Amino acid sequence: MTTTLTRSCRTDFDRRLAPPFAPVAEPAAAATAQARQRAAAAMARWQADDPATALAIAATLATEFPDDASPAHFWHDAAGTGFTRFFTWGHDHDFGHGVRRPGAMATRHLEIGAEAIALGFLPSALAGAEVLDVGCWSGGDALLLAGLGARVTALEEHPISAAAAARLTSLVGAPVALVQQSLYRDDPAWRGRFDLVYLSGVVYHLTDPLLALRICFAYLKPGGRLIVETKASFRGGSACDYAGTAEKGWNWYAPTLESLGRWLTDVGFPRDQIQLHLRPIRRLLACAVKGEPVALPEVAGFSRPASWLEGVC
Ligand SMILES: C[S@@+](CC[C@H](N)C(=O)[O-])C[C@H]1O[C@@H](n2cnc3c(N)ncnc32)[C@H](O)[C@@H]1O
Repeated sequence: MTTTLTRSCRTDFDRRLAPPFAPVAEPAAAATAQARQRAAAAMARWQADDPATALAIAATLATEFPDDASPAHFWHDAAGTGFTRFFTWGHDHDFGHGVRRPGAMATRHLEIGAEAIALGFLPSALAGAEVLDVGCWSGGDALLLAGLGARVTALEEHPISAAAAARLTSLVGAPVALVQQSLYRDDPAWRGRFDLVYLSGVVYHLTDPLLALRICFAYLKPGGRLIVETKASFRGGSACDYAGTAEKGWNWYAPTLESLGRWLTDVGFPRDQIQLHLRPIRRLLACAVKGEPVALPEVAGFSRPASWLEGVC
């Protein structure tokens, strides 16, 4: 009896794992060039009409949200000291007319956005779409998504970052609603609300990636898509690198391509709707499209027992 049970479990387990995920190919050079232009044009929408306005907006933000650590030396000087205890501007921002503010994340919002467009993960026109940007820092991704036409809700747990992003997006007139809150404060009212959830540079900073991805899944409409950008592990198979607080930047679990594919499967995305890409800088970019709402495929050990997230959502 015991042998039979073990065999049948193993068969089921193996069936769910095979075949391994394969990375999608690099986009063609022409598609990449076009996508970069699209991303730049989306951001350019938020530049000021005249130099005086650009200077005034930049000065307001510099006064209200000064850098506690220099963006250029952020990772060396401050990233290991408790991220929520200080503020540094996140993404390079171009206010127009040569007025710029550098950020610790430089232009990664543009690079990732362009790559996601070139791969076909991120639609290049988002008019009418409801988008959730998780972990927006000072708002670079949120502005890019709004520049593509979306109505954006941006979630950010860091209080000063959330306030800075709210101020920036309102000063430039972008349709972004800031919510200063952790993704883990899941809101059942957001069930099935979003066409797109953008989770860039966040999942490896989270102690419970499965819960976070299940919340993202639950927030999507059927047919909606989740885009994930993450630090990667290259240990092979379904390993994850655990760095925790020993590494600057509080990096908990960095997945291999295979692990990320399985995480997405295990929170409810249909396997054939998951695309995984190995970025040229050796990080991962993924897109997963939600099918019909489904119950969590396995609730054993789930960190929100008996919550709405276990049921069909
Ligand atoms: C490395 S930054 C990524 C910024 C931007 N999305 C990007 O890709 O460049 C991670 C951001 O996620 C935020 N964050 C981390 N955990 C979060 C959580 N549980 N809920 C909301 N925001 C979170 C951090 O405060 C930080 O601003």
